Amino acid sequence: MKKGWLVINSFVKHDKFYELYRMLLASAEKKGAVLELKTTTDLLFEVDNAFDSLEKPDFVLFWDKDIYLAGRLEHKGFKVYNSARAIEVCDNKILTAMALEQAGVRTPKTVVAPKTYEGTGYNNRLFLEKAEQILGYPMVVKEAYGSFGAQVYLVQNRQELYALVDRLHHKPFLMQEFIASSYGRDVRVNVVGGRVIASMLRYNENDFRSNITNGGSMGQIEITPAQARLAIDACNAIGLDFAGVDVLFGPDDEPIICEVNSNPHFKTTYECTGVDLSEHILEHVQSHA
Ligand SMILES: Nc1ncnc2c1ncn2[C@@H]1O[C@H](COP(=O)(O)OP(=O)(O)O)[C@@H](O)[C@H]1O
Ligand SMILES: [Mg+2]
Repeated sequence: MKKGWLVINSFVKHDKFYELYRMLLASAEKKGAVLELKTTTDLLFEVDNAFDSLEKPDFVLFWDKDIYLAGRLEHKGFKVYNSARAIEVCDNKILTAMALEQAGVRTPKTVVAPKTYEGTGYNNRLFLEKAEQILGYPMVVKEAYGSFGAQVYLVQNRQELYALVDRLHHKPFLMQEFIASSYGRDVRVNVVGGRVIASMLRYNENDFRSNITNGGSMGQIEITPAQARLAIDACNAIGLDFAGVDVLFGPDDEPIICEVNSNPHFKTTYECTGVDLSEHILEHVQSHA
């Protein structure tokens, strides 16, 4: 019988996340694994060597974005899923865009804002003028860190872009070509171990963002081989064991990767498709442990 830890954040107390933990724990039981819940505070060690005295589980299912803890566990020989690096790349949309570009995986044309600092901000507009020449309007602006569509914006003109960038102050962000053919629609493709397990259509008639948490709806969809291939390529480019990949509908319906989630919110996929991702994730990590 394989033993694992389910590592969760110490501070986030949202039902939304607890639902996922419960599903993962239930699936572990169903798949014959012992899964022990550990918060990031449970695993707090002032001296790294303290990790050596812990009895190592066969696998660590890391359901958080605390890449410092994930990395330290890896350095101590724990098998962590997803890996610390894959979680880091997914958490930061700039790193995601770079990884996908490097692997030749199709994404919207993207311009990364140059780095600035707290107290300094984006006090020079030249880069925005360059970006608008490359991307035009409407333009999508995304904070490097964000989820549920909350830190993703559509700007229609220079005035809106400047006002938004003022509000972002010094936060890192990217600017992106708006894929108009995908307005309010995309496909959430869930991949585990290099295979597509379940997909759903997400759509919103009142917003360019399809996120369910932001008021989007979900629907059944049979994805095309091209959509499946691209989602798998995106996971391979980042080194993910499992992920929820957002795939946009390009002009003429060719797929374009929007973003990749290392800790996908699989409850909605379950409600839409009846497929419980947590079972597939548990099977995958047990067979690799
Ligand atoms: N370049 C784009 N063109 C068209 N729609 C986009 C683009 N980028 C994002 N979207 C829409 O916004 C939603 C949220 O963006 P996403 O990058 O997935 O951020 P989040 O992490 O907040 O979900 C996407 O699901 C998609 O519907
Ligand atoms: Mg998304």
